[in-house]
This record gives sequence, C-alpha cells and structure tokens, in this order.
Amino acid sequence: MTTAIFYYTGTGNSLWAARRMSAALGGARLLSLNAGRTITDAAGADAIGLAFPVHMWGLPRRMAAFAGSLPAGDGRYYFAMAANAGQVAGTLPQLRGILAAKGIKLSTGFGLELPSNYIPWEGAEPAGKQARRFAAAQARIDAAAPVIAERRDGGIEKGPLWQRLLLSGLAYKLAYPKVPGMDSSFSADDTCTSCGLCAAICPAGDIELRGGRPAWKGRCEQCLACIQFCPAGAIQFGRSTRGRTRYHNPEVSAADLKG
Ligand SMILES: Cc1cc2nc3c(=O)[nH]c(=O)nc-3n(C[C@H](O)[C@H](O)[C@H](O)COP(=O)(O)O)c2cc1C
Ligand code: SF4
Ligand code: SF4
Repeated sequence: MTTAIFYYTGTGNSLWAARRMSAALGGARLLSLNAGRTITDAAGADAIGLAFPVHMWGLPRRMAAFAGSLPAGDGRYYFAMAANAGQVAGTLPQLRGILAAKGIKLSTGFGLELPSNYIPWEGAEPAGKQARRFAAAQARIDAAAPVIAERRDGGIEKGPLWQRLLLSGLAYKLAYPKVPGMDSSFSADDTCTSCGLCAAICPAGDIELRGGRPAWKGRCEQCLACIQFCPAGAIQFGRSTRGRTRYHNPEVSAADLKG
C-alpha cells in the first residue's frame, strides 16, 4: 500500500502537515502542487492525500482546480487535511462535492488549526500560541493516521452551520473571482535588495523583477509566500502590514515549497 500526498502551501503549514502525516503513516510520497505536479505523478499509489490551506473559508484556487482535474471515477482512497487559523467553515464539504461530481469519494477530511499567515489581519502569533496549535494539530494527525492507514471512513469535518452559510456560501463566492487581481495591493519598499526570492517562489509566476523591484502581474493566488518569505520584509499589502512580524512555518524554508 502506497500513499501519495499532494500539498499546496503559501507559508509551509500544509507541507508541515503532509510531512507529519507521512511520518505517522510510516512514509508517503509528497508531491508539490506549487511545483505543478499532476495526478500522473502519483502512479502506483492506492491512497491520495490532499493538504492545503483554507483561503477565505474555502479551497484555494489551485487545490479547487486540481480536485476538478482528477480522473473521473478514480477508485482510490482519498483523504484531506485543511490547514486553517480557526475557521475551516465549509471547505471540506466543498472538496467532497467537487470529488463526488467526479465519482470520487472523500473518505476522511479534517481541519488542522495552525498559526495564521493572514498578515493583512495580524502578524505572527506569539510563540506560545503557535506551540499549542502545533501540538494540537500533531495529536489530530496521530489520531487520523490509523484510520487512513486502514483505508477506513473517518468522516468529513463540516464547520459550524453559520460559517458554511455566510462565509463559505456567500463571502467565499464573492471573493473567489477577485483573487487574481488582489495583488494590486502588494508593493515593495526601499528595503528590497533585488534578491529575486519572491519571484522564484511564487507558485503562480505572478512576479517579475522590473528595475530590480518586484512587479505583480494580476494572476495572484493570495498564498502570501512572497510577503511572508521576503528576507528583507520589504513587501507590504496595503498599509496594514508595515512593522508586523512575518510568519512562515519554522520547519519549512522557501526552498522547500516546490518540493
Ligand atoms: C488568502 C488567505 C485566506 C485565509 N482564509 C482563512 C479562512 O477562511 N479561515 C481560516 O481559518 N484561515 C484562513 N487563512 C489562514 C490560513 O489558512 C492558515 O494560516 C494556514 O495554516 C496557512 O497554511 P499554509 O502555510 O500551508 O499556506 C487564510 C490565509 C490566506 C493567505
Ligand atoms: S524577496 Fe524581498 S528583497 Fe528579494 S526581490 Fe523580493 S521584495 Fe526584494
Ligand atoms: S504574488 Fe505572492 S501571494 Fe500571489 S501567488 Fe505569488 S507568492 Fe502567492
């Protein structure tokens, strides 16, 4: 029995989850959607895991597209882990629906509350809070691993009804089409060293250096890798992010994002 886990991540939490699940299962192949891996890369696996962040109370665009691209009627065992900062909302039922439309069953899907990377709202959480979140998420992974190892049904986490209706049902649908253009709020300040890291790690190829400074091209996925991994802290999103502590998963480097 072989498990492949596809991960999509902005700041490494979903890769952390994929790695930890791999360890709990005694080994899994990790495949980066940031690097454009496709389902054909999981040849030989009888179980497919999906690890991704919750974005605006639903699936990030790249994971939604990947789920929609899966081969109809794929009879393999599917499970999902949705990294979030406390509001998983209707993300997993959304994924279940996309897969069901393809005749694929999502056997297990659960949220993992991990440190928030949504810097327009807040900077990095205090170390103690981060540690508590990692410990609770690890316990959740350890509890789910035997279910996945035995290819059993473990249920789908739904999130509260009000979140499903208001946030996933309404706010997500309003925001989703606007995501590619949300990069108009990014800018780089004078502390930019022209290192090029932001352009190198952007999963969408949305950034190019013009005159030594990043320029965004309107096909953003809002993963926030650029602003969070910039070694100079030079990237801002609107006016709220200046001076806020950046966050990325402490066990994941920029080089890790693309596998
Ligand atoms: C654009 C965006 C939207 C987000 N929306 C939500 C959300 O709706 N609910 C939530 O709990 N966390 C939300 N978050 C926080 C992330 O889901 C969370 O920090 C996650 O662990 C990040 O995973 P990653 O490091 O793999 O990208 C959002 C983050 C981003 C960048
Ligand atoms: S990662 Fe930061 S310092 Fe490097 S080019 Fe991008 S904005 Fe400039
Ligand atoms: S521009 Fe930044 S936030 Fe948008 S997809 Fe690229 S790395 Fe992610």
